[in-house]
Amino acid sequence: MKLRDRGIGVFDSGVGGLTVVREIMRLLPEERIVYLGDTARLPYGSKSPKVVDKFSSQALRFLLKQDLKLIVIACNTVSALSLRKLRKSSPLPLIGVLESGAKRGVEVTRNGIIGVIGTKATIRSRAYPKLIRSLAPQVKVISRSCPLLVPLVEEGWSKSKITYQVASIYLKPLLRQDIDTLILGCTHYPLLKGIFQDIVGEKVVLVDSAQEVAKKVKELLRRRNIRKRGGSPEHTFYISDISRRFVHMGRQILGRELNNLREVNLEEW
Ligand code: DGL
Repeated sequence: MKLRDRGIGVFDSGVGGLTVVREIMRLLPEERIVYLGDTARLPYGSKSPKVVDKFSSQALRFLLKQDLKLIVIACNTVSALSLRKLRKSSPLPLIGVLESGAKRGVEVTRNGIIGVIGTKATIRSRAYPKLIRSLAPQVKVISRSCPLLVPLVEEGWSKSKITYQVASIYLKPLLRQDIDTLILGCTHYPLLKGIFQDIVGEKVVLVDSAQEVAKKVKELLRRRNIRKRGGSPEHTFYISDISRRFVHMGRQILGRELNNLREVNLEEW
């Protein structure tokens, strides 16, 4: 198969990575997506770097067998902890979500104070502040992990009052430090954008890593001249545990049925 006709792999710990798929589908509707969500072992955000390394290496080995031209690591936790190691064992380009989000954050901040929210593992890794400072050393980064938000979204409570209250508790300290930009450093957070914007007010700009990474994918395909030409793609969704919740949330995020849903045992890879 010609390189340009191959698919784009998207890997996440679960269903949240579909927020990245949604943006890629919007920008590049002709591209075929092969999604891999490790729903059996989610969440990654509360696990140790060693375990995240192991799980993501298994996922990469699986994806490398799927006739792809590039792979997007949609999971912020994997991008923060394991991307460098994964790149060493991948013949295909791997795009993580952190670089694009950090770059956009630096572009939009006016007062040089950026907030970053993510899982415990992402925040503990300090990957976002390191990246941001490498781009703009004068920028101040205030980070906060928000471990309760992923389960609330997974439970389908994205619009509930409780989620609003929990998010307020997490965000208030960042607001007190005068952030003017907030990087949504987790796959699930684009689904809470409305709530976040309500809490932080219109003056704080939200950076949606999913949108930024989709732009990066488009740019890479253009630069390498491997963008697919026309046709209507057949996407495939591999997950390590098919649950009703995945199907329901997937439909909600993508606004369509998830055809070609298949189960894969990542322990075997
Ligand atoms: N996908 C993870 C991330 O973006 C959130 C869910 C998890 O903890 O596995 O960090």
